Amino acid sequence: MADTLSRSPPRRIGLLTGGGDCPGLNAVIRAFTRTARGRHGVTVVGIEDGFEGLLEGRMRELDYGEVAGLIGEGGTILGTTNKGDPWHFPVTAPDGSVSIHDVSARMLARIRENALDALVVVGGDGSMHIAQRFVALGVPVVGVPKTIDNDLSATDTTFGFDTAVSIVSEAIDRLTTTASSHHRVMVIEVMGRYAGWIALAGGVAGGADTILIPEVPFAWESVFRHVRQRALRGRRFSIVCVAEGAKLPEGGEVLRGIDRRRTDAKQLGGVGAVIAQRIEAGTGLETRVTVLGHLQRGGTPTAYDRLLATRFGVAAAESACRGDSGVMVALRGTEIVTVPIADAIATLRTVPPNHPWVQAARAVGTRFGDEPVPADEGGARGDGAPAS
Ligand code: F6P
Repeated sequence: MADTLSRSPPRRIGLLTGGGDCPGLNAVIRAFTRTARGRHGVTVVGIEDGFEGLLEGRMRELDYGEVAGLIGEGGTILGTTNKGDPWHFPVTAPDGSVSIHDVSARMLARIRENALDALVVVGGDGSMHIAQRFVALGVPVVGVPKTIDNDLSATDTTFGFDTAVSIVSEAIDRLTTTASSHHRVMVIEVMGRYAGWIALAGGVAGGADTILIPEVPFAWESVFRHVRQRALRGRRFSIVCVAEGAKLPEGGEVLRGIDRRRTDAKQLGGVGAVIAQRIEAGTGLETRVTVLGHLQRGGTPTAYDRLLATRFGVAAAESACRGDSGVMVALRGTEIVTVPIADAIATLRTVPPNHPWVQAARAVGTRFGDEPVPADEGGARGDGAPAS
């Protein structure tokens, strides 16, 4: 594959962060800059606000001083946006209307004008799709996988995920004490887009009683039954951890909006409130909902994410400085490797319904809302519950 062959080593590399921010981005910027500059003498040009800044030529050289002290800082000093897809670029008219344009040729021109020999793109699947299209146009690109959603293929995990999971786990700890004091059901809605990784890992780590994820279809009566049975056993509270992409039994995801400026216009959100309402109506137990939202993305990264982000940053610098293109750094077992970007974006990495974490959760009594309901308890009422 010509895309992934090494080329002559670059002297000036553009570095950008794209898509939603994520704890660990600054650790990558620090590691990349120090390795590329310090070890290889390459000039690192930080591009502001992802591909949008590339189009507008907003960029600056990064030196040791600028990246000092970044290891534990959340966010990205470069800024980012999830509305900068060059092939789906939104332009807002004075009357507020949005039109979508292909500005890839202008971006290519900017890359040449600024004498960038290569790009390093730190991003999720949207950014990797864009990276791959630039590779096809002859721009050398190395990718660094980032997303709290953990939904990129070809890498065991991404930095940011561990931090998000820790935040979910801590939130569940806190919700559990108030839930048990008030004998309430607490529904917690977490991020993750179309993948249930955050809900699964955070729910298991927090000891959630029920976890609802897009990959495991649930039935209302099965969810209600577990909440009722806990109450009958004297546990008059339940914690239900819901992935924002969980699909309602009557069909589909719950959206909080549509934003045409994004390549994927769907904005997930609101499923927790729907589920809380249905649980209260179906069980008679007082129910509350907490939407964790962007708390999962903000703030300082965990030690695990700092380490992974640093290793990714160093590996990306080594790869880009030797002239690689069309590759993404990845974690495989304990090793950092490079893989074709094409492999990372071939499929969205969702939770296999029989994943070991799902099995472990089931073994300790956590429910996924797909458990059989006896016919005399409503399982045969045509509510979508699996037959017993
Ligand atoms: O992809 C990361 C993510 O946080 C998703 O989990 C979530 O659906 C989305 O981004 C939220 O996007 P925004 O920050 O634009 O609301």
